Amino acid sequence: MKILVCGGAGYIGSHMVAYLLENGHDVIVLDNLQTGHKDSLLGGKLYIGNLKDNEILDKVFTENKIDAVIDFAANSLVGESVENPLKYFDNNIGSTIKLLEAMNKYNVKYIVFSSTAATYGEPENIPILEQDKTFPTNPYGESKLAVEKILKWCDRAYGIKYTALRYFNACGAHINGKIGEDHRPESHLIPIILQAALGKREKIMIFGDDYNTEDGTCVRDYVHVSDLASAHLLALERLRNGGESKIYNLGNGKGFSVKEVVDVARMVTGINIKAEIAERRAGDPATLIASSEKAIKELGWKPKFNSLETIIETAWNWHKNHLNGYEK
Ligand code: UFG
Repeated sequence: MKILVCGGAGYIGSHMVAYLLENGHDVIVLDNLQTGHKDSLLGGKLYIGNLKDNEILDKVFTENKIDAVIDFAANSLVGESVENPLKYFDNNIGSTIKLLEAMNKYNVKYIVFSSTAATYGEPENIPILEQDKTFPTNPYGESKLAVEKILKWCDRAYGIKYTALRYFNACGAHINGKIGEDHRPESHLIPIILQAALGKREKIMIFGDDYNTEDGTCVRDYVHVSDLASAHLLALERLRNGGESKIYNLGNGKGFSVKEVVDVARMVTGINIKAEIAERRAGDPATLIASSEKAIKELGWKPKFNSLETIIETAWNWHKNHLNGYEK
């Protein structure tokens, strides 16, 4: 297949591009490189530009016979979205609308959309099922939920079939050691812990130890980025085989507390990473754990990295060999 990956130079996007290339697909990347890194692309044809720019979309779709689209292009900082909601609604919803218009114009009928556990907000049940209540507690989650709804109507009106994948905590790095996680500024737990291990930070601050969890720190479901990539390709293949539009959770179905993640990272690195308890971070639910049974059953998804230790090993392998991320 010839697949357009929007936001392909980002953390999850770049692992998607690598996975598609490994599986013999042709890859076209559209990325404005605002948060993505050119060096994270292990191949494919890159177009640098914004999804909201009709000209670049016309160029991409006329120069390439695209079979399907995978869309990762979005702003994704929860905290920033609370401070600047319009940026998130404008960019995350607006750019997907432009993309869908182009898909309709050029008769491209399949899209896999990068959604999030943040669509659920405070969960009603653990593990979380796809049919559970969606009530986002921040504009980032709200913008992704809005796109899911837009996709539903575009399916009805234009026959564009979609799969929305709601990721839990994406983490880890490619086992080839060439690509990994580099956000600026970094806000995610595992890279922050590993930066502390490397002496790039003095310590890690644990945001709250008075949650209603076993050790009082937040519990999350950590899922390897390459496993997320494999689910996207399975979802595309399913759509191409006539599958209906659907939504799936992607997680490992196991929860780890922040303290447990720090402990596993200490074990993997052999370094006594310093940690200190700090105030809660606004908007953090106590526990988020996915049920991914639907993806396992219907997509035939088999996550390979189901131990936190191996996931952190892959991240550690990348971080210790890329002390400044993608910066030369
Ligand atoms: N945490 C710390 N210290 C840090 C960073 C994080 O204690 O320095 C804690 C957070 O409070 C949270 C856990 O570690 O309890 C994980 O935090 P991350 O920022 O790594 O991830 P989140 O669970 O906040 O966010 C993830 C995705 C988002 C998505 C969200 C859905 O990264 O894109 O899940 O709720 F929106």
